[in-house]
Amino acid sequence: MGFHTFDAEKAEKLEDDSRYRYVSREELVGSLDPSDDDVVADLGSGTGFYTDDVAPHVEQLYAVDVQEPMHDQYRKKGVPENVSLVTANVAELPFDDGELDGAFSTMTFHEFAGEDALAEVARVLADGGRLVVADWSGKGIGESGPPVDERFDVDEASEQLVDAGFTVEHGYERPETFFLVARR
Ligand SMILES: C[S@@+](CC[C@H](N)C(=O)[O-])C[C@H]1O[C@@H](n2cnc3c(N)ncnc32)[C@H](O)[C@@H]1O
Repeated sequence: MGFHTFDAEKAEKLEDDSRYRYVSREELVGSLDPSDDDVVADLGSGTGFYTDDVAPHVEQLYAVDVQEPMHDQYRKKGVPENVSLVTANVAELPFDDGELDGAFSTMTFHEFAGEDALAEVARVLADGGRLVVADWSGKGIGESGPPVDERFDVDEASEQLVDAGFTVEHGYERPETFFLVARR
């Protein structure tokens, strides 16, 4: 199990371009490296801040969030035509086995990670499907984001993913966040 779920009343904080200081569109889309006809999911999509960055590069994007009010915020902003809002827990995804070509998650892994959720992500990804995770790191300096003791570092996240059947292609620490790319 992860830690606290992000407070939906603070949703507007997610629509702040200064967040690209920690994770950029370029590294996210570049690392996911999707094809135009890919079906992918954003796990813990919030207001769709990063969903919007990936949407132009895929056929279909499922924005998965456990809190309906986050989707309400996204609707207010405007949802791209190829994005479908899915209200679900990552540990119980409404997708068929192997349905997704790829998935990504920004600043949310610490909220949902655990055996059940990662087994579920592995189930819905096609063989070879890529999972990109960026999150606040347990080795971070704590200048922003959730309390450091509620986070995982890249080694802990990688270990959980390997246990769930993923191969970690690369993962690295930065001052406040970690970034990793894994394959199903
Ligand atoms: C910190 S916000 C980040 C949102 C978005 N990824 C971004 O970077 O702008 C975390 C989001 O993940 C969602 N979330 C947390 N745990 C979840 C779970 N188990 N399943 C689905 N969504 C979850 C929360 O509702 C919240 O909207």
